[in-house]
Amino acid sequence: MGEIWIIGATGRAGRSISAESTTGGHQIVLVGRNAERLAAAAAAVETPGGPPPRTLVTDDPAGRITADKPDVVVNTVGPFGATTVPTARACVEAGSHYVDLANEFEPVRSLLELDSAARAAGSTLVTGAGFGVLANESLVYELCAGRPAPTRVRVAAMPVVDGLGPAVLASVVDAAATGGLIYRGGRLERTRLGAHLQHVPLPDGTTRPTVAVPTGELEAALRASGAGDVIATSSEVPTGRATRAVLPVVGAILRVDAVRRSVIRLIDRWKLTPPSAQGDTSWAYAYAQWEGGESRQAWLRTGEGYAFTSRVAARVAARLADGDGRPGAFTPGALFGADLARSAGGTITFDSTAKDL
Ligand SMILES: NC(=O)c1ccc[n+]([C@@H]2O[C@H](COP(=O)([O-])OP(=O)(O)OC[C@H]3O[C@@H](n4cnc5c(N)ncnc54)[C@H](OP(=O)(O)O)[C@@H]3O)[C@@H](O)[C@H]2O)c1
Repeated sequence: MGEIWIIGATGRAGRSISAESTTGGHQIVLVGRNAERLAAAAAAVETPGGPPPRTLVTDDPAGRITADKPDVVVNTVGPFGATTVPTARACVEAGSHYVDLANEFEPVRSLLELDSAARAAGSTLVTGAGFGVLANESLVYELCAGRPAPTRVRVAAMPVVDGLGPAVLASVVDAAATGGLIYRGGRLERTRLGAHLQHVPLPDGTTRPTVAVPTGELEAALRASGAGDVIATSSEVPTGRATRAVLPVVGAILRVDAVRRSVIRLIDRWKLTPPSAQGDTSWAYAYAQWEGGESRQAWLRTGEGYAFTSRVAARVAARLADGDGRPGAFTPGALFGADLARSAGGTITFDSTAKDL
């Protein structure tokens, strides 16, 4: 029986992943820094026929991973700029497998750079096991399957959620401090935060405004397509003219380390949460254009974003615990393909008559 640790098990995503992880017969261990909150999270997990969850209170998850060598670690503690690399390195040292929900550009790229260390240790590291990165990259894999690399790719994430945890706001602060990024000619280029306003077409004929944000989807779409020009946009940032005008200033202020750290401490202390886009349907979108002008587009449709994310993370963790991975560092689509998104409740549709965006 594999042991799956869920770090950040008291949070919005951690609780939901714990609930999704009870059916595979694995021993779930809820890991956190507060005994009372952990006990409440454990009491809420129903395990019909399986072992009840255990809890582990620690301020040093990386140290405990190295000592106890669990089979799989799921890291839900954002902002991931502070937790992805130390936790993944501890997993490599222990020979454990690692899964996180990161969707900020830097942590996703840093995790993927641990590929050779992971292969040498026999560990599988998976970053972006949620709506962001998987929803967009699975579309790119499917659009590009069996074709030469396109010249241009654009992806857009448009999730709806019932509510967001404070760690999401902290992750947004980290992302804003990174500033705008795109790939042009295969090279990473700085762009204005909030630039590249794009009205994404939806299958029902409506459009949704999105702007460029430095997400893990940018890196994942580059790797999935081999395209030189890649832009990743999101509807999660307000797209009004006034907001887009001040975003670069906010990003510049947050780039000052001391300011950013204070803001993140305040968010954690006061449990501040960002506004959330509510609704019935989350959308992901990808557009690819090939030499000669041919272009195709695709959509992934699913329900509430956290539900999809929790199913993705729980499925990836269970498959790794069952020995279904391979050593190295991956995004979830690169390891398990677009069918992982379908099995988590995503429906994918295509259109080969796409117009230039
Ligand atoms: N890729 C995706 O699609 C996707 C989807 C959903 C969420 N996310 C990301 O996942 C992260 C978690 O989201 P969430 O909504 O679950 O946030 P949340 O409700 O705020 O939960 C954060 C969890 O992390 C723990 N934590 C926070 N700071 C910590 C620290 N310094 N040391 C140890 N534990 C700490 C919290 O523990 P306490 O209870 O002790 O405070 C809590 O368990 C965010 O970064 C979010 O952006 C990604």
